[in-house]
Amino acid sequence: MVDLKGKKIIVTGGATGIGKSVALKVSNCGASIAVFDINSQNGATTVNQINRIGGNARYWHVDVSDEVAVSGGVEAANNWLGGIDILIHMAGILEGAGVEIDNFPENVWDSILDVNLRGTYLICKYVSPIMKKKSKGIIILASSPAGVQGKSSSLAYGASKGGVHGFTITLQDNLKKFGIRVNDIAPGSVRTPLKIKNVKVMDKKNINSIPLENQINELISPDDVANIIAFMASEDAKELKGTVFTN
Ligand SMILES: NC(=O)c1ccc[n+]([C@@H]2O[C@H](COP(=O)([O-])OP(=O)(O)OC[C@H]3O[C@@H](n4cnc5c(N)ncnc54)[C@H](O)[C@@H]3O)[C@@H](O)[C@H]2O)c1
Repeated sequence: MVDLKGKKIIVTGGATGIGKSVALKVSNCGASIAVFDINSQNGATTVNQINRIGGNARYWHVDVSDEVAVSGGVEAANNWLGGIDILIHMAGILEGAGVEIDNFPENVWDSILDVNLRGTYLICKYVSPIMKKKSKGIIILASSPAGVQGKSSSLAYGASKGGVHGFTITLQDNLKKFGIRVNDIAPGSVRTPLKIKNVKVMDKKNINSIPLENQINELISPDDVANIIAFMASEDAKELKGTVFTN
């Protein structure tokens, strides 16, 4: 069992998908959790689920692409938790699947880069000074094989996730001297609202010849990814460097 007893964790994107599974998992491992998301209804469900079984979680509506919201959310979470030991940043969006470059709308490009890449920079910008003060901390970011191995269904999504990977390996060197470990996880294809919608969009475009149901059945469970992330967040992973890939 991964030991996160007494750890104070921010989980972004904790309303659904991988972020929700992670919030539940790290709570089971003994952590207190501040959940950030823009889906307040599902975010409340996540924290209620945790608190109902004796965990300790609270929800904040934080748009990670909004600097004022991120700065305020991190400050509030830091006050409530009494510190921040670990950031697990899973908030992200995927749009523009199957759209060619010559038709790719600028507003879609901008919103994906804003949430996925700018959001990653912003949350790290406000969490890292808190960790620096304690000379200790762990930051786990969400990249994707889509951004580092190719084959993304969306040009902007692939670009943003490649950006998160590049940011991770740069920030990891930058924050090492302050006792802060930075890693990214590049999950394969995971059964979440984001991926199921993406599979359906691509299926409608007839780009995949495999039956839709089979494509969805082949996706891996977010709980299996959450198990890996919980380990990454633990002291047992203290020598972990760079990126963790999953199926
Ligand atoms: N599902 C996959 O196959 C897969 C593969 C590789 C990487 N990822 C990455 O993993 C992360 C989690 O994805 P998921 O599949 O669980 O998706 P998801 O859609 O189930 O969850 C993403 C969460 O982020 C939240 N969110 C979106 N925009 C936000 C914003 N501006 N501010 C705050 N929260 C916001 C959503 O409300 C949602 O709860 C994402 O960064 C995604 O890119 C997913």
